[in-house]
Amino acid sequence: MAFDSRADGKEPFGGRAVQIVAGNSNRTLTDAISAELPHPLTRSSVKRFADMEVFVEIHDNVRGQDVFIVQSTSAPANDNLMELLILTDALKRASAKRITAVMPYFGYARQDRKPGPRTPITAKLVANMIERAGVDRVMTLDLHAGQIQGFFDIPTDNLFAAPTFARDIELHMDITRLVVVSPDTGGVVRARALAKRINCPIAICDKRRERAGESQVMNVIGDVAGMRCVLIDDIVDSGGTLVNAANALLAAGALEVYAYITHGVLSGGAVNKITSSKLKQLVITDSIAPTEPVKAAANIRVLSIASLLAEAIGRTARDESLSSMFK
Ligand code: R5P
Repeated sequence: MAFDSRADGKEPFGGRAVQIVAGNSNRTLTDAISAELPHPLTRSSVKRFADMEVFVEIHDNVRGQDVFIVQSTSAPANDNLMELLILTDALKRASAKRITAVMPYFGYARQDRKPGPRTPITAKLVANMIERAGVDRVMTLDLHAGQIQGFFDIPTDNLFAAPTFARDIELHMDITRLVVVSPDTGGVVRARALAKRINCPIAICDKRRERAGESQVMNVIGDVAGMRCVLIDDIVDSGGTLVNAANALLAAGALEVYAYITHGVLSGGAVNKITSSKLKQLVITDSIAPTEPVKAAANIRVLSIASLLAEAIGRTARDESLSSMFK
């Protein structure tokens, strides 16, 4: 696993030198981000030694520059995290002025509290590691819980896919008789934010999870009979939450069920579960590089968030507001 990107020269960006460095987690997304910025990717190599240790080399001068590393800590989460830490170390030692970790998907985010005695808070541990490696700021998207920003003592920007989703819904769907549905009580704020943008009511599934990876919908709160439902969530992993919610909504009289979910983790048999479900369509972003089965799935569509991230990187480099992107 290795890549070698080419840089033909650096353009100034808002009067400052900006560089984009790619980890291996999602090269297609990083290329798309870089294509929207006036800079080719910084040349770097991320390689493995025979024993699978990671080795990194930055081939362009980064001294005194504003550097953005794009790396999702998706599966293989530990390898991608180590790549991010090692890239950061290399850039720090090469005298980069400021290092921003652009993490479209922040892995381990669901381990954000102690679910029982003698268990870790791994999201906090990961935040400590990133900070300790020398990252100056973090940019991420639809964090599982906004409070994770507080695990860092450096500026952390949590971007939202909601405006991208709202535009896509308005483009592809008839928004009369549409209801935005949260698949669990934890996602109500997210559902309300999307519903406000497209001027629709909301409904909530009352999900119970006895064990990790197994969920059950107990009740549907709100009026979904005769309505087109749009489920909104941050993560689809096993697909259990999504398919159970879709079934419960159809059983409650919904006409059709669609879903917009930011991070397509889609582990194990999730893609099969979704393609063989009654879900009309699942839209995910490319925060995690889509696998071949995901690309081939008839009822899964991938929406790129490259423009959103490119815009946020540009604004960060120019010290401009990010919140105004979401008004
Ligand atoms: C849970 O709080 C998250 O927002 C997602 O609903 C959950 O991670 C989805 O997991 P799965 O697809 O395995 O049910």
